[in-house]
Amino acid sequence: MTQADSTSEGPVGLGIRALLNDKGISWPAPIHHFDVLGSTSDHLKRLVQESVPEWTVVLGEQQTAGRGRQGRAWVSPLGNLYLSVLLRPQVAPEILGLLPLAAGIAVAEAISEMGGDARVKWPNDVLIRDRKVAGILAEGSSGPRGPESIVLGIGVNVAPAQNLPEEMAATSLTAEGASVDRAALAASVLARLTVWYHALAQPPLVLERWRALSVPWWGRVVEITSGAVRLRGIARGMDDRGALLLELPDGATTAVFSGEARELRLG
Ligand code: BTN
Repeated sequence: MTQADSTSEGPVGLGIRALLNDKGISWPAPIHHFDVLGSTSDHLKRLVQESVPEWTVVLGEQQTAGRGRQGRAWVSPLGNLYLSVLLRPQVAPEILGLLPLAAGIAVAEAISEMGGDARVKWPNDVLIRDRKVAGILAEGSSGPRGPESIVLGIGVNVAPAQNLPEEMAATSLTAEGASVDRAALAASVLARLTVWYHALAQPPLVLERWRALSVPWWGRVVEITSGAVRLRGIARGMDDRGALLLELPDGATTAVFSGEARELRLG
């Protein structure tokens, strides 16, 4: 890894770079920091047009147009972590499907390092005590030779609970009693991401770790929403491609590759 030009980083970016150095990681690309911007992922996508290097990072203190999965907004007040990182994976398409899982592991491990007991929920939500504490949005762009770049957007709820979106069962690191320095959290997320990104070369490692960190909802009734499609069934596990195995009411099992999953508490 070569050291990037860090002139545009500002004190926050330089601080995160120093924390990564302390972990023995010489970050190979710029770490851009903004007080406020629309969306860190949208900004990074614009930078991709300028051929910035892999591992370029964009951080924002606040987003005015934060985006979540399934076309939802990601409400982004001051006090949380909003970060996007550029990846250019050189792995086979079937392994690329594991990248969102690897990212979920990285974020869960970073949160656990900060004192939160984090678990992953398919495909890549991170929960504490069954409440969402972090979300990940992986957006790829393809060229003639297949996927060329992936912008991985990560949002972690840090600030007290009154700043959280009301519409979902969410929590934050502060609400869970963890005292968190956001620069340290960002450095941990990036450091764990390098580990699990490189582990994609050994898919069984990623699958084993993800299964160990997963919420224990196998055998329970869940609903998967993917755009306008809604499926209900019993979550039976995750296969080696990263697909959720869903047992449908007619007894057939189907593999679901993307969507939003929630447990249905019946009765
Ligand atoms: C989800 O819906 O669970 C994914 C949320 C991803 C939010 C992050 S915050 C940083 C990056 N910028 C965005 O606009 N979205 C992602």
